[in-house]
Amino acid sequence: MSSAAPRPWQLLALLDETSRFFAAKKIDNPRLQAELLLADVLALKRLDLYLRFDQLLSAAQVDAYREHVRQRLRGVPLQYITGKAGFRNLTLAVDQAALIPRPETEILVEAALEHLRGCEAPQVLDLGCGSGAIALALAQECPAARVKATDISPPALALARRNARQQGLEERVAFCCGDLLAPLQPAGQFHLIACNPPYVCRGDLDGLEPQVRDYEPRLALDGGEDGLDFHRRLVEQAAPFLAPRGMRGRGVGVGQADEVAGLLQQRGAFAPARIRPDLAGIPRVVSALRSGGR
Ligand SMILES: C[S@@+](CC[C@H](N)C(=O)[O-])C[C@H]1O[C@@H](n2cnc3c(N)ncnc32)[C@H](O)[C@@H]1O
Repeated sequence: MSSAAPRPWQLLALLDETSRFFAAKKIDNPRLQAELLLADVLALKRLDLYLRFDQLLSAAQVDAYREHVRQRLRGVPLQYITGKAGFRNLTLAVDQAALIPRPETEILVEAALEHLRGCEAPQVLDLGCGSGAIALALAQECPAARVKATDISPPALALARRNARQQGLEERVAFCCGDLLAPLQPAGQFHLIACNPPYVCRGDLDGLEPQVRDYEPRLALDGGEDGLDFHRRLVEQAAPFLAPRGMRGRGVGVGQADEVAGLLQQRGAFAPARIRPDLAGIPRVVSALRSGGR
């Protein structure tokens, strides 16, 4: 006698069960994560799920969803499971080659756009571009800008190039591989240098939350002993690449803003730095205009 076929899952029931399961396993925002994973499997926008609560899912859809859920329970970040992340107006492809773009980095883009307003044909540099988030957002939101983006990681650059193609921005963004400014000539050409460097103190790396520590590239996180290695090198090297009154803006880790502003001050080639907070009031972006000196 053949056993009865399993009852098909209804979309809402599957979401309810998964959210309860995620909550029991202490996954943050359990309902949201359950929805985003299911929306990905069904190739829908998350909110469209709400119009289909009664829909019955096929066995293949349920299997694909369960695989997503299993990965999330293993600690894989949601964006690496779905292969995409939102950043400003863009949906970017992401994988373990590059850091998942963070919401606080959007503040750096905001500060950059403010500076570029009124520049006729600005030349822009994104150092350590990762997935290309900053470079591509600036190219998209400032159509007059010509953007260069560098990274030391060839797999990250491959991902950034793919994102540029997918966004139709490949003509406006040039990529090159190398250590910080090494691939470029110091010709005072950039109206803006944006950088979200690795800034985690080396001693803190092992204590990061597992989904960051175990899945995001160390190269994108490790900022040296005190987390400021890249900031020091950039302060030392960036001025000759900046046009007069050109701005350098950087993302900083929690508690680093004053130190980074101090480094810029000591360098002597920059006007006093401006510090911008995120929505929680945590200083996240330090920017300064080139004033003179070498
Ligand atoms: C914190 S991630 C930022 C990625 C991206 N800009 C973002 O905000 O999502 C830092 C990036 O710097 C790159 N990087 C690390 N060391 C570098 C170096 N010496 N020269 C250039 N890029 C470097 C890493 O590969 C990584 O992509």
